Amino acid sequence: MTPSTVAGRLVSRRRQLASAAVVAVALGLLGMLYAALAPKGQASTSADPAVQRGHTLYNQGCSSCHGFNGEGGKRAPSLVGVGAAAVDFQMGTGRMPLQQHGAEAPRKRPAFTNQQILDVAAYVASLGGGPPIPQFSTADWQKADTAYGGALFRTNCAQCHNFAGSGGDLTYGKYAPSLSRATPTQIYEAMITGPENMPVFGDRQITPDQKLAIVKYIRVLKTQADPGGAGLGRVGPVSETVVGWLAGIGILVIVTMWIGARA
Ligand code: HEC
Ligand code: HEC
Repeated sequence: MTPSTVAGRLVSRRRQLASAAVVAVALGLLGMLYAALAPKGQASTSADPAVQRGHTLYNQGCSSCHGFNGEGGKRAPSLVGVGAAAVDFQMGTGRMPLQQHGAEAPRKRPAFTNQQILDVAAYVASLGGGPPIPQFSTADWQKADTAYGGALFRTNCAQCHNFAGSGGDLTYGKYAPSLSRATPTQIYEAMITGPENMPVFGDRQITPDQKLAIVKYIRVLKTQADPGGAGLGRVGPVSETVVGWLAGIGILVIVTMWIGARA
């Protein structure tokens, strides 16, 4: 081996090292660029395994409409800030994932297991804000006052869901579903998340205790099976008669005054 070939090898070694260094630096820069520009799912940086599992499920089942980071789009609203309760309600009642776009997202069999729903809820909650899934026991709502719940229900809910909570075939039938299949948690969640056309009932408007009384009333309605009979809880016809009386008398009074004025 002559000294010149040794020198030649050293030079090419150095060149190799240099180009390796250039590639390494370029790769590093690329990585930094990617980190800066890549869409940031906050969940992907989260260490919580539930959030990570939820993120995977979300990407498969929800991102086509709600966007890869819950930002929403043309097909569906943003989920940033809706909170775990909204996800638990929408997935637990089988409304989400939506199968087809229509006037109403109907209740159907849930497409995910309870654990999967909790995972997706954890992921969406990690996007920021929104009410958590309400935690209360059966004893909590069972000790509430049914009559009080009924009064609250008639003031706040009956105009849409009707006095019997059966929704359906009355004036608002197209929009307000029957409440007979909702679980206590789902009833509570509906109030704090306001799905679709339903308003949100904040804790100032209806306190947590009052919400539990409403839950109790709806559950009592459900267990009172009296088809065709004069159900005590189902005061619909009674109040309709009262309205009929009052309106009828009102019209009579106006007609009388009109006749009096003419004479
Ligand atoms: C085919 C499109 C589509 C898919 C898939 C879909 N959604 Fe939706 N989602 C919608 C639309 C449209 C609305 C708004 C109308 C409504 O509330 O019914 C909505 C509403 C919601 C809401 C209520 C938001 C609010 O402001 O309260 C939640 C929560 C939600 N979706 C969660 C999910 C989750 C979780 C998944 C996946 C398991 C999912 N969605 C899959 C279209 C979709
Ligand atoms: C302005 C009309 C309106 C009022 C008032 C209203 N709701 Fe609703 N509610 C709706 C609509 C519309 C839906 C269906 C939402 C959907 O399909 O996404 C609904 C859905 C629900 C559900 C889900 C039912 C199920 O099994 O899927 C529950 C539970 C519920 N409401 C309870 C209540 C309670 C309790 C109140 C009173 C505190 C109330 N609602 C007041 C319109 C209303």
